[in-house]
Amino acid sequence: MSKEQLEKIYQKRHAVWTLKNTPSRELRSIVSCEVVNPCRAIDLGCGEGYNSIYLALNGFDVTGVDISENAIAYAKENAGEHGVNIDFRSIDLLDNLDELGKFGFGFEWALLSQIMPEERKRYMKNLAKIIKEDGFYFSYSFNIKSEGFGGSKKGKYRTEGATGLPVYCPPTEETRELIESTDFKIKMVGKDIKFRDNNGVIHNGNYFLSKRTR
Ligand SMILES: C[S@@+](CC[C@H](N)C(=O)[O-])C[C@H]1O[C@@H](n2cnc3c(N)ncnc32)[C@H](O)[C@@H]1O
Repeated sequence: MSKEQLEKIYQKRHAVWTLKNTPSRELRSIVSCEVVNPCRAIDLGCGEGYNSIYLALNGFDVTGVDISENAIAYAKENAGEHGVNIDFRSIDLLDNLDELGKFGFGFEWALLSQIMPEERKRYMKNLAKIIKEDGFYFSYSFNIKSEGFGGSKKGKYRTEGATGLPVYCPPTEETRELIESTDFKIKMVGKDIKFRDNNGVIHNGNYFLSKRTR
């Protein structure tokens, strides 16, 4: 995924995937049920920052990172409007992440779908370095069934979304194997979870809540 393409999308506020003031239902559920408790957390590919803001309002010490500088500028403004202090940074999560330190919770909503297969192992290795032992990693990404990206007949590589950006939509098992190929153990799976974007289009995806083992 090129940074330029993403900056273009974020030339305007409210990208098609940004659910303004509405944090992910799954995030609300794992926080309100105390599956994950307040700690140092990172919102991976935070976009305009609404999930980061939810975490900060619920007692987490939050760092939000996104490759797009435009998205980070909106995220900072949005956090200011909500009166929360969040460390937002423009970073490519495929680069060296040593400067970020360690986190007890990594939250990721739909970023993995923009990381192509040849980059996914590197991404997971990076995550394993910044999530501390016994820390949690939540990942939601689109799967092969995703109607919003053209349906399963289109295969794994799609450009059928509203933005035309390349999106990778593998079978659920492929994502499971990727996560378990590093130091994460999957604790909870949500299969075929539907996500409605700002155009009302429904996408099918899975989530995995994992724990860093060693
Ligand atoms: C589908 S959007 C989801 C944004 C946000 N999580 C939300 O729910 O609104 C994926 C986000 O990942 C960011 N992204 C893509 N590749 C990235 C990378 N290599 N490093 C950091 N951020 C990246 C994009 O700029 C975009 O904001």
